[in-house]
Amino acid sequence: MPTLITGGAGYIGSHMVLDLLATGEPVIVLDDLSTGFARLVPPNVTLIRGDIGDTGLVGTIIKSHAIDAVLHFAAKIVVPDSMTDPLGYYLNNTSKARNLIEAAVNGGVKDFIFSSTAAVYGEARDMPVSEETPASPVSPYGRSKLMVEWMLQDAIRAYGLNAMILRYFNVAGADPEGRTGQSTPRATHLIKTASEAATGKRDGMSVFGTDYPTPDGTCIRDYIHVSDLARAHRLALHYMRAGGQGTVLNCAYGHGYSVMDVIKTVKRVSGIDFPVTFTERRAGDPPEIVATGAKLRTLLGWVPAYDDLETIVAHALAWERHEAAM
Ligand code: UFG
Repeated sequence: MPTLITGGAGYIGSHMVLDLLATGEPVIVLDDLSTGFARLVPPNVTLIRGDIGDTGLVGTIIKSHAIDAVLHFAAKIVVPDSMTDPLGYYLNNTSKARNLIEAAVNGGVKDFIFSSTAAVYGEARDMPVSEETPASPVSPYGRSKLMVEWMLQDAIRAYGLNAMILRYFNVAGADPEGRTGQSTPRATHLIKTASEAATGKRDGMSVFGTDYPTPDGTCIRDYIHVSDLARAHRLALHYMRAGGQGTVLNCAYGHGYSVMDVIKTVKRVSGIDFPVTFTERRAGDPPEIVATGAKLRTLLGWVPAYDDLETIVAHALAWERHEAAM
């Protein structure tokens, strides 16, 4: 039976499609193409352009394709944007997810995997964070995702849906074979902006704050390669299909790099010394977010293949060059 991938034309979703196809699993993609691209979906995959909040449409897809699992990626993901457009984030990420979950429950879907975020931890004081660290989001983005976690936990209890909540840390890199990557226009993520600076798509970049309580004064994040993240979803799906109960899992390697570590790596790997300016802190940036990363490995037997900043950066740069040549 095919798996429904919402947001399958987007950055992480398109890697998920490739991962499942490689193991012979059929997939159906539902994407409104607001930030995704049809060209990132392989031609042999059914791409339905539509709204995840449209319960009639989702119900029809589930029924007509006999969907028994949903992987839900479609969402808005820019933390600073959520500060200026909170209601847009609650509509897209929370209200529409509620409708999707309802359609899944009514359609008899067994397994549901939800893309949550490390942003649910907010400014956690103790590092690294584990799944037991209390959720305390500081942005509408983090709250929009945490509410969906709560809805799923209630749906598990009330309707017997099995749901896995995957909290992503900083996702980066691109498909090692160069078939997909991050194509978001006006991207704000660090490795993406640095890769754009290295390939001449932008004149340079800024470091947002150098006075954080970290060794070099810049923020520390736990970067995870997007293909390792996609594989974690596949393992989670197999785990649930084999009767395993869904839970909350942090998706991260368990070690951090500072903004300056990342910029130096991008300069070294690309061989380009692009201009960097040092500016004020960006609102809502916690100094450090690093996970223990242990539960994902232990529960699912996940072994990362690309736990190396240079490799992540090399793949991001390769995709940037591919996009520039198009
Ligand atoms: N940064 C810069 N310059 C840039 C871009 C980013 O200095 O041009 C800095 C940021 O200030 C931050 C760090 O690089 O300190 C990482 O920023 P990103 O925007 O790449 O990522 P965030 O940590 O803000 O957020 C990401 C995802 C969220 C997710 C969060 C979880 O975008 O969806 O990780 O930790 F919730």
